[in-house]
Amino acid sequence: MGKRLRVAVVYGGRSGEHEVSLRSAAAVIANLDPERYEVVPVAIGKEGSWRTGPESLEVLERAQRELAPIPPHGHEVTLPPDPTRGGLVPVAGGPPIAVDVVFPVLHGTYGEDGTIQGLLELAALPYVGAGVLASAIGMDKALMKSAFRDAGIPVGRWLVAHAGAESTASLARRVEAELGFPCFVKPANLGSSVGISKVKQPGGLAAAVAEAGAYDPKLVIEAAIDGREFEVAVLGNDEPEASVVGELVPSREFYDYADKYVEQGARVVIPAALPETTAAGMRSMALRAFRAIDCTGLARVDFFLEQATDRILVNEINTMPGFTAISMYPKLWEASGLPFAALVDRLIALARERHAVRSRRQLSFTPPARASSPAASQARR
Ligand SMILES: Nc1ncnc2c1ncn2[C@@H]1O[C@H](COP(=O)(O)OP(=O)(O)O)[C@@H](O)[C@H]1O
Ligand SMILES: [Mg+2]
Repeated sequence: MGKRLRVAVVYGGRSGEHEVSLRSAAAVIANLDPERYEVVPVAIGKEGSWRTGPESLEVLERAQRELAPIPPHGHEVTLPPDPTRGGLVPVAGGPPIAVDVVFPVLHGTYGEDGTIQGLLELAALPYVGAGVLASAIGMDKALMKSAFRDAGIPVGRWLVAHAGAESTASLARRVEAELGFPCFVKPANLGSSVGISKVKQPGGLAAAVAEAGAYDPKLVIEAAIDGREFEVAVLGNDEPEASVVGELVPSREFYDYADKYVEQGARVVIPAALPETTAAGMRSMALRAFRAIDCTGLARVDFFLEQATDRILVNEINTMPGFTAISMYPKLWEASGLPFAALVDRLIALARERHAVRSRRQLSFTPPARASSPAASQARR
């Protein structure tokens, strides 16, 4: 047996998707072949402390059974931004824990938005998934849509608003003029349908703005699209591949938080029942969306197929999609011939490839050597 790769699997975190992350991480760890990988669990508490050790795995076991907040387990570690420190540093002292690659199985704020990616870049560690820029753009629904629009990718109509910056009457006029009702009001930076509401008439706008604005003062308001919802999984770096298409059939008015995580009422159909050309169109659009934000590693691209027009519209890209055993992302790959364990293998290989390419970058300008007398260079100082 060759040397096993040490993979720090990071999970939990301060985001509203803490619990989903615990379930995703449990599935990822269960699919990392112990012959090839040594897992270093890193549990980030809801308050933000980083802990490791076998006790940290207990958090994952408990998360399968209970939805209540779980106190942090394990000994505290920190990741210095200094690449010479040798990896994770125990807060109580002792030798650093070296890691070969990091798998941040974190969704939402501080996990999927470029912040932890920035820390991992500073620490010079290879990590799974998108880099700083793609993560940040993928997290901001307004900038994401602008990037798609600039790449010629069809998206629905939207406008940007700031909670508290404009009167409800003025906002209602803008919505009426640019989008019409019903519309969807969303926090620009969040996920898991948190803070999102469907507003059927101007009277409902104030409550929706207050609700979304509590999560992020920057809001995105979209024209409601009447149609079916589909998702495509993308995997790769420079030559990404697209999975088969899956359809989400919400059990409620829209695919909200309860549907996703509590009642699990939404039905998933893989592969989706679609004409071949429509499915092919979605798959190629998924790759264009991936490239439009400079994504690497993985992403799930979500679509609407508009009922009245048969138009394919991109709803959003998720750079760290749900990874639980029942999540769409691994299921789409499974249906495309790539089982969960092979998928995590590939993700780790992609992380290391990306890191190797980036490590070869020249970070500073080296002036061309030229003959000059010591006196001349002295004079220039
Ligand atoms: N413009 C829209 N038209 C119709 N349904 C929408 C629209 N925007 C969101 N939805 C519904 O709300 C769900 C969550 O919205 P989404 O933008 O995907 O947020 P999140 O990032 O939280 O997943 C979607 O899956 C869809 O069911
Ligand atoms: Mg979504």
